Amino acid sequence: MYNPFRYGSVVEGDFFTDRVHDLAKSIQIIQSANHLILISPRRYGKTSLINKAVAQLKRPTISLNLQLVTSITDLATELLKRILAIYPMEKAKYFLKNFRIAPIISLNPVSNALDVSFAPTLSAKPILEDVLTLIEALGKKGKRPLVVFDEFQEVRSIDKALDKQLRSIIQLHQNVNYVFMGSQESLMREIFERKKSPFYHFGTLQTLDLIPYADFEAFLKKGFSPLYKNAASIATTILQLTKQHPYYTQMLAFHYFNALLHSKRATLQEVILSIIREHDIDYERLWMGLNLKDRELILELIYIEKQLRHGKNNNIPNSTRYSAYKRLLSKGFLIQGKEGYRVEDPFFTAWILEQRTTSKPLSVVY
Ligand SMILES: Nc1ncnc2c1ncn2[C@@H]1O[C@H](COP(=O)(O)OP(=O)(O)O)[C@@H](O)[C@H]1O
Ligand SMILES: [Mg+2]
Repeated sequence: MYNPFRYGSVVEGDFFTDRVHDLAKSIQIIQSANHLILISPRRYGKTSLINKAVAQLKRPTISLNLQLVTSITDLATELLKRILAIYPMEKAKYFLKNFRIAPIISLNPVSNALDVSFAPTLSAKPILEDVLTLIEALGKKGKRPLVVFDEFQEVRSIDKALDKQLRSIIQLHQNVNYVFMGSQESLMREIFERKKSPFYHFGTLQTLDLIPYADFEAFLKKGFSPLYKNAASIATTILQLTKQHPYYTQMLAFHYFNALLHSKRATLQEVILSIIREHDIDYERLWMGLNLKDRELILELIYIEKQLRHGKNNNIPNSTRYSAYKRLLSKGFLIQGKEGYRVEDPFFTAWILEQRTTSKPLSVVY
C-alpha cells in the first residue's frame, strides 16, 4: 500500500492539503504588478505553496535559496545558470553579448547542463546588474518571469551592501515579479518594514500560518482510513502531539502508517521512540550546542507544556529570558505560537523527556 504522507521535501498533488485561501492570495499578488513577501517559520509550507502557484501560472520561474549563496558573484552566477536552464540559448545570446563582464559558459558533458562562471573581478555589482537586467529583458519579450528568493533574510550576510545593490537594480524593472520568502520573521520584518531599509515596503506581505485544524484532520483521517477503523482518533492524537506543525505532522503520520503496515498493533508511542532513537546523535549534538541557560529555559517550556511543572522560574530576570527566547527563536529551536513560545520540534521534546525520565519506557510524551 502506498504511504499517503510525505515530509522533508516539497509536497504537491495529493500530499498537499488545503491552503486554498493562501494559494489564492499568493497568486493574486504575483499576478499583479507587485512583489510578494512570504513569511512563515521553517517547514510550514512556503516552498510547497509557491511551487503550487508557479505550476498553475506556468510562468518562467527562477528560484534560488540565498542560504546556499556565498557572494554577489555567486548569486549572479547561480541566477544565470537558472536562466539558461529555462530559456533557449538563442533568446539569451543577444543580451549576453552586452554583458560588461562576459560569462564563461560551457556544456557539462556529464550532466548535460550548462556550467556558468565569471572571472574574478573587483566589483561584482555590474555582473549582478547585467544578469538581473537580462531577466527583465526576457520578460519584456515574452511571458513575465518570476524570481523567487528563498531564505531572503540571508541577504545581508552574503554582503553588507547586497540589499542596497539589489534594490537599486530591481526597482527599475517593470516586467518581473519577485517573491521574497523567509523563515525568520524578525529579520524579514526588519528588511521589509523598517523605514531605513532599502527594501522598505517593497512588496505585499503575506504570512503563512498553520494548516487549519479541520483540514489537516480530514487529510490525516483520509490517509489512515484504509488501514485503520478508528482513523479519526489517530488524526486527533497526531495533531495533539505535533501541534499541527505541517512537517512534523507529516513525519509522524508517515512513520506511523509504515508501522501499521507491518503490524496492526503498532502504537504511536513505539513510533515516537524509534524516531528519537534514530536521531539520537543529532539531538545530542543540538542539546550540547546549547548553553546552560538555554537548556534551562527549554526544559521549563517543555515541562509547562506537558503540565509536569507549573509556572516559570522567577529567578531568571525577564530581560535574560526574552533575549534568550529571541535567540532560540532565530536559531529555530523555538516557535512563537498563539499561547507563547514553545519548542519547535516535538521529537526533540520527546528526546529530552526520554533522556531525563526515570520511568522507562517513556510515558509522558502524551
Ligand atoms: N499544504 C501542505 N499539506 C501538507 N503538508 C504540507 C503542506 N505544506 C507543507 N507540508 C509539510 O511540510 C513540509 C515542509 O514544507 P516546505 O514547503 O518545504 O516548507 P518551507 O518552505 O516553509 O520550509 C513538507 O515536506 C510537508 O511534509
Ligand atoms: Mg522552503
